[in-house]
Amino acid sequence: MSWGLATSHVPSIGAAMDQGKTGDEYWKPLFDGYAPAREWMAEHTPDVAIVVYNDHANAVDLDLVPTFGIGTAESYQVADEGWGRRPVPVVRGAPELSEHLVCELVDEGFDLATFHRLDVDHGLTVPLSVYCPEPGEAWPCRVIPLLVNVIQYPQPTAARCYALGQALGRAIRSFPGAEKVAVFGTGGMSHQLAGARAGLINSEFDRMYLQAIETEPAKLAALSREDYIRLAGTEGIELIMWLVMRGALSDNIRRVHETYHVPASNTAAGLALFEELGA
Ligand code: DHB
Ligand code: FE
Repeated sequence: MSWGLATSHVPSIGAAMDQGKTGDEYWKPLFDGYAPAREWMAEHTPDVAIVVYNDHANAVDLDLVPTFGIGTAESYQVADEGWGRRPVPVVRGAPELSEHLVCELVDEGFDLATFHRLDVDHGLTVPLSVYCPEPGEAWPCRVIPLLVNVIQYPQPTAARCYALGQALGRAIRSFPGAEKVAVFGTGGMSHQLAGARAGLINSEFDRMYLQAIETEPAKLAALSREDYIRLAGTEGIELIMWLVMRGALSDNIRRVHETYHVPASNTAAGLALFEELGA
């Protein structure tokens, strides 16, 4: 494993890029905040990025919601979320590594659903755009989607997500292909899109989270789903996906960059980038 990226996946961040609005007054501070991380990542291109994300009822129907799932396909189409597909490249998969991860994780007790076909929504494509703003014809690396249910009760616990990440880290390290792998944890930070508390932002919690994801992940893993929703909002529970990324890293990591900006749409947008220095 070479690095881990935690980043929000707000759809309008992707739309701002697609529509050439990143220099607008509203968006410029957010994109300026990404610049140092993007430069570093461009110099550390992985072979495969495992993107931990949630589908937002775009490709995965609410009739059947797996708690955890993984893509095993050769490629993934960009989902049409109602405004046409984003003008970004098709996502190339890494089926050999997917198969290895499925076998290892099932053997460790994580009974993943396997997606042999999957359209990937903003939860995955926006983090790819945060990583690489101008992919041209193709994204710089292959991608494995790793799905977490954060939208339908009962979501997995934060502790279970952290444990999944630790098993994922072991599975990556045991892959005979010795590929350079990055793991993205997406979603968050605090936000709530509907209900009486719509618009909720909790910057104090977000700033604590940005720090603790590096130094005290076990503390974040000990929070209940109700804690997440109370402190970060109904959609803020997406932050449990950062713990999958963090679990895959060792404790010997270096924070390359972080940034935090409010608002991006209805959301507090955060980014934290960690280099793995070796377990
Ligand atoms: C918004 C944020 C999200 O994480 C999401 O999945 C959809 C919308 C928003 O703030 O607009
Ligand atoms: Fe989301």
